[in-house]
Amino acid sequence: MSTAAPYTHITVTPLGGTFGARVDGVDIGASIDDAVWAEVERAFHEYRVIVLPNQPALPEKIVDWSRRIGFTEAHIDSKYLLDGHPEIIKIGNLKEGGVMKSLFVNAREEWHFDYSYVAKPSIAALFYAVEIPPEGGDTLFADSTAAFEALPEDEKAYLRGLTCIHSWARLHEQLEAMDPTRTPLSDEAKRKFAPVPQPLVFRSPVTGRESLWLAPQVVAEIPGMSAAQAEALLERLTVHTTAPRFTYRHKWNKGDLVFFDNRGTLHTATVFDYERYLRLMYRTTILDVAA
Ligand SMILES: [Fe+2]
Repeated sequence: MSTAAPYTHITVTPLGGTFGARVDGVDIGASIDDAVWAEVERAFHEYRVIVLPNQPALPEKIVDWSRRIGFTEAHIDSKYLLDGHPEIIKIGNLKEGGVMKSLFVNAREEWHFDYSYVAKPSIAALFYAVEIPPEGGDTLFADSTAAFEALPEDEKAYLRGLTCIHSWARLHEQLEAMDPTRTPLSDEAKRKFAPVPQPLVFRSPVTGRESLWLAPQVVAEIPGMSAAQAEALLERLTVHTTAPRFTYRHKWNKGDLVFFDNRGTLHTATVFDYERYLRLMYRTTILDVAA
């Protein structure tokens, strides 16, 4: 992981392994300086997960910074959007009157990249820690770029020819099982967000590097394979990609702002004691085209 040019406006400290860096010297509360942004963007592409600690809880600034990367979109899970800032979805176990007011995921680890079930997946996200439990609730990231590059050439060539069918309805059914207060998808939503094909191997238009697009719980099928074959392949690739040498565990501190490249990494939440502790995150969904 070499840097072509030194960073002069920010301090970039690799987090170890093949990806991930801590970035100091940025205050998102201040106006965005183009020279600072250029270096943050370079670090984002070089490390794919960058952590900016001690940032203020300013939703409008999180949205402004997200718009430097691409176009923000209101998440399709619209009931969990932040009041006044529909570009931000609340993730966690915020409850009011017995009803979940944030997107709640607290189960076994499921590796994925966000929005794989729409035609053009999100390119990136900003993820901000508003409230953090004293234990648990870490986010794991996997370097699906380095993991692909580590495969034998003949396997890379084979995988480049495969397509996966990603289904929002399939994921939604699993989310319903985790959160009984969640209403089932309407027929209209099922039609609007019908399953979409995605390549198994994605090439970044920015860096030219290739990554594995894995989200096993969302994939309904791989054309040309039996369900058992598809499941076995995705399982094998996920085990490879999420091996310790390709992963980074982020233990959150309140005020951490993480920029992650959604197309060049995978992530998953880890469990926490949701009956004792509150965990609340703000996340933007960033696209490369206007919604
Ligand atoms: Fe996610």
